[in-house]
Amino acid sequence: MSDTTGRDVAIRGGTVVDATGARDADVIVAAGTGTVVAVGPHLAKDPPAGTLVLDAGGCVVAPGLVDLHTHLREPGHEEAETVESGSRAAALGGYTAVVAMPNTDPPMDSAAVVRQVLDLGSTALCEVAVAGAITMGRQGTRLAPMAEMAALGVRLFTDDGNGVQDARLMRRAMEYASGVGVTLAQHCEDGALAAGGHMHEGEWSSRLGIPGIPAEAEELMVMRDIALARLTGARLHLLHLSTAGSVTMVAAARAQGLPVTAEVAPHHFTLTHAELAGYDAVFKVNPPLRTTADVDAVKAGLQNGTIDAIATDHAPHPQEAKEAPFDQAPPGMLGLETALSLALSELQLPIEQTLALLSWQPARVAGLNAGHGGPVTEGAAANLCVIDPADTWVLEAERLASRSRNTPYAGRKMTGRVRHTVLRGEPVVVNGEAQR
Ligand code: DOR
Repeated sequence: MSDTTGRDVAIRGGTVVDATGARDADVIVAAGTGTVVAVGPHLAKDPPAGTLVLDAGGCVVAPGLVDLHTHLREPGHEEAETVESGSRAAALGGYTAVVAMPNTDPPMDSAAVVRQVLDLGSTALCEVAVAGAITMGRQGTRLAPMAEMAALGVRLFTDDGNGVQDARLMRRAMEYASGVGVTLAQHCEDGALAAGGHMHEGEWSSRLGIPGIPAEAEELMVMRDIALARLTGARLHLLHLSTAGSVTMVAAARAQGLPVTAEVAPHHFTLTHAELAGYDAVFKVNPPLRTTADVDAVKAGLQNGTIDAIATDHAPHPQEAKEAPFDQAPPGMLGLETALSLALSELQLPIEQTLALLSWQPARVAGLNAGHGGPVTEGAAANLCVIDPADTWVLEAERLASRSRNTPYAGRKMTGRVRHTVLRGEPVVVNGEAQR
């Protein structure tokens, strides 16, 4: 580690890529203001004494990544993750902002808990935004005080982990959200249809004798909520979609001009239900890993613009919990430190398109686009990541910054890696190492 605090930063020799295109340029950042002060070729040739020079040779210099779907577990499950440890994992993964999911203990269904998480986030290694709960206790019966949470800056609301089952209540939530000017994000799962299931219902669940969750459990709620978005005019974001049918419905909704956005998680474009063959709960996740046809449809949705964002659904769980018998192990897998590399390795999209899915499009959905995902220009907030697209590496679970180890990608070879991350002008990751 070098002393990175309070020093101006020169990012030298990279290719800047943002929503406006690509150009070879150095980027100069002022520590005091946390903003980009200049972008142009050869600016960092001879930097003033005291400037911290970050080598970006062969690298892409981009707006920091934004994760719409992170479980930070604090308050309540600090044995799995804390705001600090999760934010360190995020920074190492190239993220400068994450949206913390509300299924904490207590849940984020009041201004008090939201304030607590925002306070913890104020010293974290990335910006921590909060998604508030739609209903009290995420129980799906009474609406949470969304306006009170929106007054603290909350822009997304979800009961994630649960879908809101009652269509009438969801309609009222949408009407309320529209009035407040916020977006509802749905965990699409019909609880009755999914009940008792632990993996995708299909060939592998039959073979393994594990009760399944049919694709229709997700698709029924996608269909219902698109209909409710049409009825109410509310903005709807669909979380972690996993089936071909869901992607088709989102494309149709968009073609009709409905205000619907959608995300998918890296495990849904890299893994299938065949991974469950060994009954290893590291592959247990909700929604579950699906079929090859679903993976192909999800990839096509990312390629053709139907899907707006890649979101990690980073869901840390302690080792003991994941080692419980398969039906008792909690669903969820880590994602922050592998999402970018998996996207670069598996999707083979032009770098601008990959970054759109990981940075500026999710920034817009989260309402974070004032400080994140914006073009790298003079005066912009210096929330940046520097990516070496050619760096080939093998994931070692023991080296993850997360407090948990439940990654399904241990031992996997990937191409493309974060070299540096700059948060509000401060280099929080330098040469792949967190600075605090
Ligand atoms: O697999 C999952 N894990 N899906 C969810 O919706 C919740 C998450 C968690 O919190 O562990």
